[in-house]
Amino acid sequence: MDVKTIAVIGAGTMGRGIAYAAALGGYKTVLEDVSGQVLESGIAWIRQSFEEGVARGKVEAGVRDQALPLISTTSHVEDAIRDAELIIEAVPEELEMKLELFTIFDRFAKAGAIFASNTSSLSITDCTAGSVSRDRCIGMHFFNPVPKMKLIELVRTPLTSDETVATCREVARRMGKEVVIVNEAPGFITTRINALIGNEAFNMLEAGIATPEDIDKALKFGLNHPMGPFELVDLVGLDVRLKILEYLHSTLGEKYRPNSLLQQYVKEGRLGRKSGCGVYDYSQQKAAEKKT
Ligand code: CAA
Repeated sequence: MDVKTIAVIGAGTMGRGIAYAAALGGYKTVLEDVSGQVLESGIAWIRQSFEEGVARGKVEAGVRDQALPLISTTSHVEDAIRDAELIIEAVPEELEMKLELFTIFDRFAKAGAIFASNTSSLSITDCTAGSVSRDRCIGMHFFNPVPKMKLIELVRTPLTSDETVATCREVARRMGKEVVIVNEAPGFITTRINALIGNEAFNMLEAGIATPEDIDKALKFGLNHPMGPFELVDLVGLDVRLKILEYLHSTLGEKYRPNSLLQQYVKEGRLGRKSGCGVYDYSQQKAAEKKT
């Protein structure tokens, strides 16, 4: 199928990043969210990301000028998906919500449209169980921050057709991304490995082996990770990581049992950068951002 229009459902951290990548790839892009405020901040973020891309010589000014007008917004899923050949959902990791969305896609999308989920761990087979178009269902797993991260994991179920995979591969290429193909399994490749590293870092912190700063420093300078595990979990969200670990624990077993300190932090509302405090404290930074 020739993709001309991409609908992105959910304008949170990932949805807005995916919309950025879609417009950069030259696709007409419809970004949907139930919250007008989230849509507004999503568009502001996309503009800022294009500016940063241009300033750093990664995006040509002409490409930015062509890309920005390609993006429109709506608060209605049916309107967002009506003309799209590819629909990518990036709503919260709630199975029930995703199940319902995929049945809406069936009812209101164009004939032959591809339905993708950006879930970072849930089973694509489970998320799309209510859909009648399962050969056109696939996982397209993007990474945060989307403009700077080069990979998309394409997750195929036993029912996903080769044509669906080929179309999504081409879309990813136009977005400037690398692709890996994964046969569906909990946590795919990246989430599964990342969850173990992150959980082990909490196990070490809880055991008093080292400070968070030194654990982060060790992985950055000793193993060349671009960020330490605590810097990363503060970026991704401790609640997001906990949910992933709970799912991997229930599907893959004991090795993935979520660390109790991580659970405690989430209970206390220490969710990472977004809440002003995670493993590290960002309250002063947040206050400064509010002032500017
Ligand atoms: N458009 C395109 N490219 C851009 C850009 C833009 N708007 N803005 C910056 N770039 C480019 C930069 O020019 C730079 O390119 P080069 O490397 O070729 O010079 C590159 O993107 C990196 O930019 P920065 O120099 O600003 O980035 P940095 O060196 O400070 O690194 C980082 C920032 C990329 C976030 C890095 O710290 C990193 O990789 N951290 C790990 C992030 C990670 O693991 N994310 C995955 C989280 S898990 C997830 O998302 C899955 C999930 O489902 C939960």
